[in-house]
Amino acid sequence: MNKKALVTGASEGIGYVLAKRLANDGYAITAVARNESHLQRLVSEIGPEHSYLVADLLTEAGQNVVIKAVADKHFDLFVNNAGIAALGKFTEISVERHVNVLRLNCEAVVRLAHAYLKSAKDGDALINVSSALAFMPMPALGVYSATKAFVTSFSESLWYEQRQRGVYVMGLCPGMTSTNFGKNNGANDLAAPSFMTQTPEELVENALCALKARKKPTVISGLVNKIFTFVARLRTRKGVVATMGGRG
Ligand SMILES: NC(=O)c1ccc[n+]([C@@H]2O[C@H](COP(=O)([O-])OP(=O)(O)OC[C@H]3O[C@@H](n4cnc5c(N)ncnc54)[C@H](OP(=O)(O)O)[C@@H]3O)[C@@H](O)[C@H]2O)c1
Repeated sequence: MNKKALVTGASEGIGYVLAKRLANDGYAITAVARNESHLQRLVSEIGPEHSYLVADLLTEAGQNVVIKAVADKHFDLFVNNAGIAALGKFTEISVERHVNVLRLNCEAVVRLAHAYLKSAKDGDALINVSSALAFMPMPALGVYSATKAFVTSFSESLWYEQRQRGVYVMGLCPGMTSTNFGKNNGANDLAAPSFMTQTPEELVENALCALKARKKPTVISGLVNKIFTFVARLRTRKGVVATMGGRG
């Protein structure tokens, strides 16, 4: 085992499946999240050669735990996956919650990407997990979809800058993925028709294929999501937001 990967938000959902798959592919994993018992369960499943860090990435102290880890150890792959959302009408949700969405989905991503890329070497890779909503402003998830537009744009610029030194940056755009994301973020009605929903395993497979190819700055997972995002880019912004809001 000579490659190392750090995955944030690895205690469940997409990050958990990704960490398990990367461990199976020969990476030594450092898993990051807040829930220690979930992280312990992951390490007990993938083996004692893997490790975890308990860190709340909403806090500077938590972000610094990860920043220190990348300063102390070289990681061939770094995955900014942890993310949250606030579902509901903008003014009906506290501003503190909206700011937390910004802090985790944008500020933590920027600070951790900066720390990682400063010491990254030729051949290394950074994956920032964005969303298909990066291309489709979503009423009732307005701050969340805006943070993902930020992550995709940011990742594209980093892809361009970093490829000159042999470091690959990917903005990964999942569509609806069957995890507890809705439930974890206070919504039980995020369900979509099954043809629109991928399993985290399918998403991870697509992400790792794209990581192997190291070509695209933005990776949209799955044919349905590729079609939706393509059509969204052909339509007017007004038309897209009306459709997403249910009036188009
Ligand atoms: N599921 C979808 O449909 C979907 C679609 C598009 C994009 N995405 C994106 O994919 C990523 C993963 O989503 P998911 O579906 O796997 O969500 P999830 O099942 O809710 O998992 C989120 C992960 O992030 C961690 N996390 C949350 N707050 C954190 C904090 N303050 N500090 C550190 N870690 C924190 C959670 O661990 P702890 O609670 O233990 O901290 C958990 O491991 C997110 O960036 C999300 O925006 C998801």
